[in-house]
Amino acid sequence: MSDAINKYRFGIRLIPMLCILLLSLSATPAMADAHGDKAADDAPIVLITGANRGLGLEFARQYAEAGWTVIGTARRPAQADDLNALDIETLALDVTDRDSIAALAAALEGRAIDMLINNAGIFPRVNEIEQVDADDYAQTLMVNTLGPVLVTQALLPNLRKGELKRIVNITSQLGSIEKNSGGFYGYRESKSALNMFTKTLAAELGPEGFICLAIHPGWVRTDMGGANANLSPEESVSAMRAVIGKVTSDDNGAYRAYNGDAVAW
Ligand SMILES: NC(=O)c1ccc[n+]([C@@H]2O[C@H](COP(=O)([O-])OP(=O)(O)OC[C@H]3O[C@@H](n4cnc5c(N)ncnc54)[C@H](OP(=O)(O)O)[C@@H]3O)[C@@H](O)[C@H]2O)c1
Repeated sequence: MSDAINKYRFGIRLIPMLCILLLSLSATPAMADAHGDKAADDAPIVLITGANRGLGLEFARQYAEAGWTVIGTARRPAQADDLNALDIETLALDVTDRDSIAALAAALEGRAIDMLINNAGIFPRVNEIEQVDADDYAQTLMVNTLGPVLVTQALLPNLRKGELKRIVNITSQLGSIEKNSGGFYGYRESKSALNMFTKTLAAELGPEGFICLAIHPGWVRTDMGGANANLSPEESVSAMRAVIGKVTSDDNGAYRAYNGDAVAW
């Protein structure tokens, strides 16, 4: 009989010990993997511009699959079927429209964002100086350069609240002055200026713990890259996520390719 009582008392004492063990396990911070992914209870938040197709859509798909909280923006969210199919948060954003940027910032007011990916872009093929059209040229700079500048400015309060403090600008190696062999008026300039913005921003925000990165996705089979490109969106984005996931403060202001190699400025 006393044996049974002892066993009962032992069992009763075991319950709080088990509870403490379970609580301490659940409070253990989740480990980030090489992509910077974490367990769902500690999910980082990423906002991706131009997420309805191409590389932006693939970023949204892969980060969502990795357990991140994803906010994907599109010019026309109601028509962004592939993005909506991911079951993530979708918000409207035209990066050339200041009211649209202000509305996005208002919708996100007070919320932390860990990482901004300035991905939206356009690529007009203008290879001769005689073909340069002032309005088209200005539009390229508006989408590829001023857009990322204004979106970053508008979301800075959110990024300051975030833990990771990462700003990733999707650039191109066509923005490299050193590697320039001609062609692509407007686009090259827009990405060189984006690179310069990345470096200037890195210098200002680095002391706050930000890591700002300009990354070239490679030549990728999207509407922009065309069918002959050598990389699939899956390959490009997976490689870029690995690079982004491993950055340290030493990489702040870097200009990298999708495989992590430095690109000549
Ligand atoms: N693919 C490549 O080989 C390659 C190479 C180097 C660099 N990149 C860069 O990678 C990024 C993504 O390119 P991608 O290949 O995925 O191009 P994509 O398939 O043509 O997609 C471009 C995305 O940008 C969005 N966008 C265009 N203008 C916009 C605006 N004013 N406001 C908001 N969003 C806008 C598009 O939205 P809509 O559907 O509404 O037009 C679309 O979601 C770009 O910055 C590009 O310069 C691509």
